[in-house]
Amino acid sequence: MQKLIDVITERMRDAFIRCGYDGSYAKVVLSNRPDLCEYQCNGAMAAAKAYKKKPIEIATQVVDAVTAEEETSGEKIFSEINAVMPGFINLRVDEGYLADVMNEMRVTDKFGLEVPGHGETVIVDYGGANVAKPLHVGHLRSAVIGEAIKRMGNYLGYHMIGDVHLGDWGLQMGLIIEELRDRQPELVYFDENYTGEYPDEAPFTIGELEEIYPTASAKSKEDDAFRARAQEATFRLQNGYAPFLAVWKQIMKVSLADLKKNYDNLDVHFDLWKGESDAEEYIPWLIQNLQDQGLAYESEGALVVDIAQPGDRKELPPCIVRKSDGAALYATSDLGTILERERDFSPVKYIYITDKRQELHFTQVFRVAKKAGYVKQETPMIHIGFGTMNGKDGKPFKTRDGGVMRLEHLIADINEAVYGRIMENRTVSEEEAHETARIVGLAALKYGDLSNQASKDYIFDIDRFTSFEGNTGPYILYTIVRIKSILAKYRAQEEHVDAGRILPAKSSMEKAVTLLLARYSEVMETAFEETAPHRICQYIYELSDAFNSFYHETKILTEEDREQRAGWIALVTLVKDVLEACIGVLGFSAPERM
Ligand code: ARG
Repeated sequence: MQKLIDVITERMRDAFIRCGYDGSYAKVVLSNRPDLCEYQCNGAMAAAKAYKKKPIEIATQVVDAVTAEEETSGEKIFSEINAVMPGFINLRVDEGYLADVMNEMRVTDKFGLEVPGHGETVIVDYGGANVAKPLHVGHLRSAVIGEAIKRMGNYLGYHMIGDVHLGDWGLQMGLIIEELRDRQPELVYFDENYTGEYPDEAPFTIGELEEIYPTASAKSKEDDAFRARAQEATFRLQNGYAPFLAVWKQIMKVSLADLKKNYDNLDVHFDLWKGESDAEEYIPWLIQNLQDQGLAYESEGALVVDIAQPGDRKELPPCIVRKSDGAALYATSDLGTILERERDFSPVKYIYITDKRQELHFTQVFRVAKKAGYVKQETPMIHIGFGTMNGKDGKPFKTRDGGVMRLEHLIADINEAVYGRIMENRTVSEEEAHETARIVGLAALKYGDLSNQASKDYIFDIDRFTSFEGNTGPYILYTIVRIKSILAKYRAQEEHVDAGRILPAKSSMEKAVTLLLARYSEVMETAFEETAPHRICQYIYELSDAFNSFYHETKILTEEDREQRAGWIALVTLVKDVLEACIGVLGFSAPERM
């Protein structure tokens, strides 16, 4: 289906052209004065300069042309079209036309959205957990935003490949290995003369591993010798020393099982479980190639690539691809990963989602990748740098005792708060309330994050996020649940439940609902183009509000006219279906009751 805004624009463009003006002046936008009109066209103002006429003269001419056309063709899309001083064109959409749009949306796949994608591959690099380090709230935003963007793209017809890109090759591995040596020196991994097979069993549980890393990390800050050993162990691991690779595999196995569980709890799912370690095999070629192309050069013992470009607003330092001690860096491994992704998928777009403090890193990596010709010039490489999740005190979110909040604790806190609210209502059993709290809690958490523009910092406020009123996830779910209950009552009371047809809106409240529904495809497309899930949140918030206002003033179930009753049921079903499609794309779902 053609988007409503495009239908309107086309009709205006035809009129501008028929009046002798360039069609490009017929730009139509959503009105910022809903009391005066629904859409508006300000093109007469710009055209006035070009054609040396009064704006109102042009606007009136165009309005007359549209009116005449609507009358002769009988295809009415405006209920009102006015030229107002100094030269605006105010538009209202015809209720009958909107009802037709609604009825078509109901029976068309994806509510008539014409998907822009045709299976083109897009890489979404998100999650980014570091193996053997606890998953904390710092990784939450990446997982939540990335999952939404991946789902948005898939919905629009792209082939989105989500890669968790684990930090699995860093110093934490050396720290764990050396801490293990201190605790269990008898392990075969530390016997230089050992030639047998390495055990299948890990020498630690996830619980122990979670304690080993922080202990070792703290120790390395005080004990230089220990730190040096850990660095040495990391270096040997990265150079393929078999015993350490064997320990590493055990660390990976234990930690990954736990990570998967955590991501599952967030309803976050990756297509690829790759990590920095997978980039290793590309690095020798990469370094050689950068040198062969004359891009990489020695600087103070390190190997660097210049990335500054004319037009840069600030001075950008070169990208270091090899340190003076020969070690690879974060940027090197990201470049290696790009080589692999090009080889395996040749994506049409890359999207990376991390904390915005990594902005320079990604600028450097993207520029090197393009300069060296690893990625085509025209392939967009996007870094979405998100802001910090702060506590109510405005400082980065911490636990009560000042530590870093673990993700599972955070989820538990949210679920508990939601559980409390559900039990206040007392409409469901305790058991159901627990299950419902899990579903609603996830929505509270994700919506609380996604409803903000990603780059902004935001305040994590459990009370606000779990409220059933206001711009929150639970409010959206509450709206869906409310519609589900209306539909259940309707089915119970009617003798015949037929599909019904949505009729022209009778009230301004009802019309507001239909106008919002008609914007569905436009919102979904723009949100993905701008990689901005918050646009979908804003949309479903407005739609929920519009529905609730309509519902308050309309007695749907007791309406006497059967056709009208069925029409409203069809309308609220469409609202529910659209809301559910949106939250599905955002990465959460609604319960049956709450
Ligand atoms: N592991 C990294 C971190 O915790 C995030 C990885 C992001 N992805 C990437 N390709 N660099 O900061």
